[in-house]
Amino acid sequence: MQKTKKIKKSVRLAPHIKPKRYTLTLKPDLENFTFIGKEIIDINLDKDTITITLHSKDIDIGSAQVVQGKSGEYASKITYDEKAETAIFTFKKKIKKGNAKLEIAFKGIISESLRGFYRSRYEINGETKHLATTQFEATDARRAFPCFDEPAHKAIFDVSLIIPGSHTAISNTMPTSVKEHEGAYKVIEFASTPRMSTYLLAFIIGEFEYVEGWTKQKSGSAPAPVQIRVFTTKGKKHQAKFALDVAIKSIEFYNEYFDIPYPLPVLDLIAIPDFESGAMENWGAVTFRESALLVDNEKSSLSNKQWVAIVVAHELAHQWFGNLVTMEWWTDLWLNEGFASYMEYLCTDYIFPEWKVWGLYLSEKFAIALRLDALANSHPIEIHVNHPNEINEIFDSISYAKGSAIIRQLAGFLGHDTFRDGLRHYLKKHSYKNTKTVDLWDSFEKVSGKNVRQLMQNWTGKTGYPIVSIDTHKKGSKITQERFFSSRISSKNNKEKTLWQIPIQYESFNGKEKDNLHMLMTKKSSPLIGTSIGKVNIGESSFMRVRYDKITLTRLKIEIEKGQMSVHDRLGIIRDLFAMAEGGYISATDALDFSLSYKNETEYIIWSEIATGVNKIYNLIREENFENLYKKYSLSLFNPMAHMLGFKAKTGENNSQVFLRNLVLSQAAHYGDKEIIREAQKIFTDRKNNPIKSDIRSVVYGIVAKNGGEKEWKLFKELYESESLHEEKDRYGRALTLFKQGKLLSKTLSYALSKNVRSQDTPSMVSGVWQNSYGRDLTWKFIKNNWKIILKDYGHGGHFLSRLLAPLGSHTDKKDAIDAKKFFAKNSAPGSERTLEQSYERIYSNDAWVKADKMKIKKWLSNL
Ligand code: BES
Ligand code: ZN
Repeated sequence: MQKTKKIKKSVRLAPHIKPKRYTLTLKPDLENFTFIGKEIIDINLDKDTITITLHSKDIDIGSAQVVQGKSGEYASKITYDEKAETAIFTFKKKIKKGNAKLEIAFKGIISESLRGFYRSRYEINGETKHLATTQFEATDARRAFPCFDEPAHKAIFDVSLIIPGSHTAISNTMPTSVKEHEGAYKVIEFASTPRMSTYLLAFIIGEFEYVEGWTKQKSGSAPAPVQIRVFTTKGKKHQAKFALDVAIKSIEFYNEYFDIPYPLPVLDLIAIPDFESGAMENWGAVTFRESALLVDNEKSSLSNKQWVAIVVAHELAHQWFGNLVTMEWWTDLWLNEGFASYMEYLCTDYIFPEWKVWGLYLSEKFAIALRLDALANSHPIEIHVNHPNEINEIFDSISYAKGSAIIRQLAGFLGHDTFRDGLRHYLKKHSYKNTKTVDLWDSFEKVSGKNVRQLMQNWTGKTGYPIVSIDTHKKGSKITQERFFSSRISSKNNKEKTLWQIPIQYESFNGKEKDNLHMLMTKKSSPLIGTSIGKVNIGESSFMRVRYDKITLTRLKIEIEKGQMSVHDRLGIIRDLFAMAEGGYISATDALDFSLSYKNETEYIIWSEIATGVNKIYNLIREENFENLYKKYSLSLFNPMAHMLGFKAKTGENNSQVFLRNLVLSQAAHYGDKEIIREAQKIFTDRKNNPIKSDIRSVVYGIVAKNGGEKEWKLFKELYESESLHEEKDRYGRALTLFKQGKLLSKTLSYALSKNVRSQDTPSMVSGVWQNSYGRDLTWKFIKNNWKIILKDYGHGGHFLSRLLAPLGSHTDKKDAIDAKKFFAKNSAPGSERTLEQSYERIYSNDAWVKADKMKIKKWLSNL
């Protein structure tokens, strides 16, 4: 397993003390934002000891006492190790091997940091309200109560909350008793949780309303119906119905698919106005950012609706994959996130087959994985991590997207029924326990009889993925694998020679007869069967790219032009061509040339891929003297479709058409189509008489902002501030990042750090301006000038910084990489070290790419 470069001191707890049960009582003060707590932890000691070390961060511990049998003993000394985030209790007398009770009294702060026990602010009729909630994954339960905060230290939790009589409290389980308490408070005791990890505990206190429903009981047999409730702050429950419906269907699907019933009687989903990530899978009490849970019948777009379905399906998959069976340590985080990222599509596809979400999977998640893992500075799926900053850093697209891609590849290889049986075997065998990656492979081996460990070893153990090259000759064809790099510099410097075991499906011709053949490629080179070869990696089912020889590519091109190829395959071919152009395997003009064969294309996911490729090259040559020629070429691609679809939806459109409209209109406007710009402005001006349809709002706002000035900027800011539906607010916020005037973009950047923007939304606003080519240099300057503030507000771990810094990689001049390296040599960016390395690699790659291809592109454009 690869070690991270800076090996930090291990911060793991000693293994000889094991928690069994926490009896935890907390009393939050929602006016002063503090809490007091006490807990009894039932522990078991493997040997005598005089110190007990457990996790604790920013908590003030008043006392700690160990009780064994009848005798109690207070810790004579309580010290803290800030680096390790622990508290150490030292006792005068030895604590004996065996069972003991550890009683701790403590107090802490309900912070604004979006982690640990934190507060969220919202308004109702102009009145400011607060709620208190928790976010413990990965390592922040220790900010709410002293605990053994590692995923393998599973225990049972008995939670009691003392809260104002007017409030509601939600936790992982249902209340078993509610009693009055002094000062208009009440004490709510919750039922014992299943045996579980600390990071899955949750409590949420506030004034809520909810909608509810039940899963269907299959006739005659278990599982029993599960009560499902979706909570919102007051006045929003009408936006919770869609998520409720998806949640019910998801639980029904997983009950059946995993063949293990959801083990709790109730499942709650809660919308939280301030939330760092999209959602969190706390067992039985799943928390969400509002835009990932709420759907408004009038204002929500289809794409947001799909996002809600995907997020709900993702978090509910975790109820089995992650909560019931949990990784032993964060090294195997991908087991949670890669799997949930696969299941979210499987489940959504089951509920909404008409959405064809696997196409979206290929165009989004799969693409992200291919892009990130093409960098020398990517990392293996399984990676050694210690410190919380390192742990937070691996909640990235390798764990999520590459994880899901290799799972999908394996499912295809084993066959879907065998795959499902393997999962059932694994989940049943390890329920309420912890696992490593190989435990999953063992279950698949058991049900399939195939050597899955060996098959998967390099997919999880090594960085990167292969590109296979096809050489066809009269005497016989062959296929060769090597690691793919998106940077020509990285491929030149590469010394590693990983060989992957690659399941490959390909089209083989014998004369005119066509066959789909399977092979498992295990060597550097292998022969292919057939007189000639067609599409390789049919359905894009394996995680790789393909490089065809000229003859084969020409044949494929004809198939595409004639509309004879499946959509997933058409997508793969153009995507790989653009990627090869970036990596220097072919010239950019080869990819641009090939894009012209897609003129009759009608599928959104393919146009989206073409747009990505075309925009990337535009980013390189934007200030060259042939920029206008390039715009003309781009318009020739997007214009016909943009004018054909127009802004007005026709009845009965499928989601590809709905998304395609947004895409081609915004592309056409981006490359300067005046008619479309005018039309969008008209729709916007007329919005009071004719409300803009939800599905075209983002494209209309975007075009208006890109072509607007001060007046529009002010208007979007006002709309941003007065909007209560978060999804719509996000659209206005994005518009603020799209202006062309430096002065306005600078205002957006300052605004992003102001109190009018929730800190959860700051990174996307800043990175939005950074991704805007007119805002690029100015954002980088802004970041440098404001680094101290950014670090203070957003540098407390988590993903803020890395999300904020990712657009650095879109710079195209290596001077910028040198400048950034200098800056970050003096200024730390905790938890973003790898993101920075990736950005430098991207900049150097862009720089080399422009130099290599610029003149060729110019020549190609002038011959068009
Ligand atoms: N377990 C994560 C939430 C999380 C992320 C906790 C990072 C701690 C650090 C959750 O299951 C998740 O993956 N959420 C995704 C949504 C999903 C649909 C990709 C998210 O928040 O982006
Ligand atoms: Zn997840």
